[in-house]
Amino acid sequence: MRFGRERIEYKTPEQVLRMRVAGLVVAQALDAVREQVAPGRTTADLDAVAAAVIEGAGATPSFLGYHGYPATLCVSVNDEIVHGIPGPRVLAPGDVVSIDCGAIVDGWHGDSAITVVLDAPGGADPHDLALARVTEDALWAGIAALATGERIGDVGEAVEDVVDGALAEGLNDGHRYGIVEEYVGHGIGSAMHLPPDVPNYRTRDRGARLRPGLCVAVEPMLVRGSRLTQVLEDDWTVVTNDGSRASHWEHTVAIGEHGIWVLTAQDGGAARLAALGVTVAPLD
Ligand code: MF3
Ligand code: CO
Repeated sequence: MRFGRERIEYKTPEQVLRMRVAGLVVAQALDAVREQVAPGRTTADLDAVAAAVIEGAGATPSFLGYHGYPATLCVSVNDEIVHGIPGPRVLAPGDVVSIDCGAIVDGWHGDSAITVVLDAPGGADPHDLALARVTEDALWAGIAALATGERIGDVGEAVEDVVDGALAEGLNDGHRYGIVEEYVGHGIGSAMHLPPDVPNYRTRDRGARLRPGLCVAVEPMLVRGSRLTQVLEDDWTVVTNDGSRASHWEHTVAIGEHGIWVLTAQDGGAARLAALGVTVAPLD
């Protein structure tokens, strides 16, 4: 989703509390899927697990029916980056599985994604484990920038810094991870996709000012090879051009008067952000 200079929806503290209810349903659904994902399961199995949690919570899946999207989750495997449609595909040892979930409660949205690298005999490929770990690190650095920065552009800068750091560390066989540019993070609230765009790369335009009431989904997508993408015949699944593997991580984050809170994390992001020197600001 891409937006120009449209109006940003700033939330009241009460509205943010309602978004947290939706965010925690998403967190719960992803926790359940994380427990179930394993070689031998199908991607449709994972979709059923998430659907049951969302329904059990009295919430509504936000992806189902979105521009005709046919499922509760997006499950993107290996060279699939995002928007993989769950189906009969059987997961294999060593697969890199990105799982994206969204839910609505009382009209308010939460959106989050994780990547799981499945175990394999002799262990998963260390390159895949590093890809997933660096992408998660990039997510948290981007989230921390919402607390320490001044503008949306600080998120992309933080993501790029993590990617540069990984290169300096010699990860990915000395190749810089590709940062996907066609898909970006977004404002979120009374709809899943709202302005502003939240790019995962440095931009000349530094973007909207970070201020209380702004809620955004930060969602870096990194790939081991070229950042270039294509969309499959199903009109949804986004894959890397070169077949290299991809990871996608996402959280929904609120900016408040006194700091940030990660709405799709049980602890509001406290643990991961403390490691980055950021203290989260409880909502109540
Ligand atoms: N969760 C995706 C995002 O973060 C959106 C999924 S698109 C859908 O933007 F069509 F699958 F819903
Ligand atoms: Co999103």
